[in-house]
This record gives sequence, C-alpha cells and structure tokens, in this order.
Amino acid sequence: MIEFKQVSKKYPTGQLALYNINLTLEAGEMVFITGHSGAGKSTLLKLVAMLERPTKGEVLIGGRSLSKLGRSQIPNYRRRIGFIFQDPHLLYDRTVFDNIALPLRIAGMGQSETRRRVQAALDKVGLTGRENTFPLMLSAGEKQRVGIARAMVNKPTIILADEPTGNLDPELAQDIMFTFAQFNELGATVMIASHDHALVERMKKRTIVLQKVD
Ligand SMILES: Nc1ncnc2c1ncn2[C@@H]1O[C@H](COP(=O)(O)OP(=O)(O)O)[C@@H](O)[C@H]1O
Ligand SMILES: [Mg+2]
Repeated sequence: MIEFKQVSKKYPTGQLALYNINLTLEAGEMVFITGHSGAGKSTLLKLVAMLERPTKGEVLIGGRSLSKLGRSQIPNYRRRIGFIFQDPHLLYDRTVFDNIALPLRIAGMGQSETRRRVQAALDKVGLTGRENTFPLMLSAGEKQRVGIARAMVNKPTIILADEPTGNLDPELAQDIMFTFAQFNELGATVMIASHDHALVERMKKRTIVLQKVD
C-alpha cells in the first residue's frame, strides 16, 4: 500500500534527512516510526503526504509512484490522508464543530452531510456534545482530539500522525494512541512518529527505527 524504494531526501540547505530508505506497509497496517530527534521521522511522513518530495527514489501508494501524480491530482490524493501534528493548530474563534467541519466545507460538502460526518467524528474521539464549545475551553487532550476528528472527518485511508502525544501526560497519550488503533481497526493505514519508547512498546505494533544520517 505504502512503499518507499531507495528513498533519499536532501533539503535545499544540503541537510540529508533520509538516506536510502526501503519500506513496505500493507494496507490496513499500523506502524510506529521512532528514532532520535533529527532522524527523519517528520520528513518520512511529509513524503507520504506530498508535503515534501524525495530527491532520490520513489514513494508508491497502491503501486503508483507519487512522482507521477499530475498537479491536478494532488488535492484529491491529499484528501485521502489525515495528518495530525503535535500542535493541532485549531482556529480559536471557531467552535469545535466549525473546526472539524473545515475540510468538508473546503471540499464543498452540503450542510446535512457535513453535520452527520462531524457528529460521527466527534463520537469516535469521545467528544460528543462538545460541538458548540470554543477551543479555549478545552484541555490539551481534548484539543488534540479535535485535531484528530478534523483529520478523520474526510474518512482518510491513510492516517499520518507526527508526535501526536508530545504535549500530553502519559495517560492521555495512551488514550490518543488507542484512538488511532481504533481507526486502524476500521481499516485505515496508520503511521505514527513518536519518540516515546515506553508508549510505543505498550502498543505492540510494528516499529521502524530511523537512524540519524550525517
Ligand atoms: N525544511 C527543512 N530544511 C532543512 N533541513 C530540514 C528541514 N526539515 C528537517 N530538516 C533536517 O532534516 C533532518 C531530519 O529532520 P526531521 O525529519 O524533522 O527529523 P525528526 O522528525 O526525526 O526529528 C534534521 O537534520 C533536520 O534538521
Ligand atoms: Mg519530527
């Protein structure tokens, strides 16, 4: 489903972030990407999301090289991906509902379908009933859940999470990881970058360790 073939990424600054990565993920798999700061975890996820492009090698999704996607196909491809960051970057002058509905409105979805999807996403992250709340009223864990709901509302087939629990206490962090595991059980392919080894070990999923290249 997701395949890296001899992928290297060198940033324009000359910094080599990934060197000769070969990696295959089956559809419906959930994997953790670990490694020290600077090992290339974020870069790896960005290559899948097409936020960066490899300088060598190929990233294939469903057997198709991302380098062969035309400009007009990229937005459609990105819609299949849910990207979750350490900081959920919520809009603080909008309600929880509006924050989660944003990707659907961008996609031009009608009101009733939007409402249905947002409710379903709220339910999945355990925030039913909080739709009219503003983000300032939420705890850090709840804010992160809103970010996850927003990423999931398009029903992505691939979920990429970059240090999604970095700011949370251990118990909340574990809850968030279980939320990802639930989405995975519903069929999504999930890649999570994390340097929290204890947490990653408890999840008992395949773990890929990146080494920093110099
Ligand atoms: N936009 C960028 N421009 C230049 N160098 C970058 C950029 N992003 C990351 N790097 C460098 O690439 C390497 C890998 O970074 P990153 O993928 O962020 O690693 P990690 O997420 O594991 O901490 C680091 O040396 C980092 O400084
Ligand atoms: Mg990172």
